[in-house]
Amino acid sequence: MSDRHHTRRVATLAIHGSAHDRTPGSPVVPPIAQSATFHWGSPDDGELRYSRYGNNPNQIQVSEKAAALEGAEAAIALASGMAATAMALLALTEAGDHVVASSRLYGATQTLLRDELPRRGVQTTFVDPEAGGWDAALRDETRVVWIEIPTNPTLRVLDPRPIVALAHDRGIRVACDATFGSPVNFRAADLGIDVVVQSATKYLGGHSDLIAGVVAGTREIIDEVVRLSRLYGPALDPHAAWLLDRGLRTLDVRVKRHNQNAMAVAEWFEGRPEVARVSYPGLASHPDHVLASELMSGYGGMVSVVLTGGGDAADRFVSGLRLALAAPSLGGVETLVSQPRYTSHVGLSAAEREAQGIPDGFVRLSIGIEDADDLIADFEQALAR
Ligand SMILES: Cc1ncc(COP(=O)(O)O)c(C=O)c1O
Repeated sequence: MSDRHHTRRVATLAIHGSAHDRTPGSPVVPPIAQSATFHWGSPDDGELRYSRYGNNPNQIQVSEKAAALEGAEAAIALASGMAATAMALLALTEAGDHVVASSRLYGATQTLLRDELPRRGVQTTFVDPEAGGWDAALRDETRVVWIEIPTNPTLRVLDPRPIVALAHDRGIRVACDATFGSPVNFRAADLGIDVVVQSATKYLGGHSDLIAGVVAGTREIIDEVVRLSRLYGPALDPHAAWLLDRGLRTLDVRVKRHNQNAMAVAEWFEGRPEVARVSYPGLASHPDHVLASELMSGYGGMVSVVLTGGGDAADRFVSGLRLALAAPSLGGVETLVSQPRYTSHVGLSAAEREAQGIPDGFVRLSIGIEDADDLIADFEQALAR
């Protein structure tokens, strides 16, 4: 593991990372301000408060905490991970601008860049991080390089440091979707990344019971995200903000348990004859194991396996599970499994998926915080089918 041990700090910030009322009699748990608007009589009453503006007390509180967790100057919590992604991209670009993006991104982010942003006059060049070529893709009009670490679903860890150096040399910003690691395992801002995006639906919330997202960065960038969000309207509902804060308080213990369980499960799968390949950055067999050990404080809760029996074997395995649930999404306390060919990568042909390291038979596991032996017993009985 790296020397960048910030976990103690993160554990504390996840609980105390936002301002708290300490007057006697004040509640230990901040109440939900389930109010669209707030009493305001004249300009002497300060800024207008309105929950679409992102300045509801719960929105402010969870945004402050998110900034603290990322080690960023500022952050804003929004209504989904895609709201965070879209608002960040809109804030960083305007018509005529160019984006360079990793070709290994969450599906909706790829679609946004490929099909939607051109309608706003913003073009994207995709770079395969395994092949490289970031330098050649940059243009005079490039404003942002967009990457994801670790990647979904092959769990590759790319080194952002040379990309950051290259981009900053030309005044270009680097944004990273760091959802899979969470700030417990991976703090992108510490590596010079300018904008960090999280789908807070996943590890930050942690209980599969809310949809939210976070953009973190400099005050200047976040002010622009806030300005646009007030116009486009993807505010986080106060109740979801409260739930997100509740989830955050246990972030550190949850993620450490996800890390432990995923390692145990990955090691177990690696010894199984029914399994052709296991992808987990914590395994020495993973192509980015050394880099992941340097950049991350933990290897995360996501494990991918490829079954030797292909798609049919994967279907049988998933339908045979008794504890783990077949469902998209990840990062919750319960173990979820999905096959990217039916979910995130349904839009690609089998050959295209194969080229991205996702052959039929590929199963993505979001390992929860149950007892690892119980999970392994469930996987064992499902593999036997
Ligand atoms: C890596 C990654 N980024 C972004 C998103 C989008 O987040 P949301 O579903 O909260 O909009 C997801 C959702 O699965 C994701 O896995």
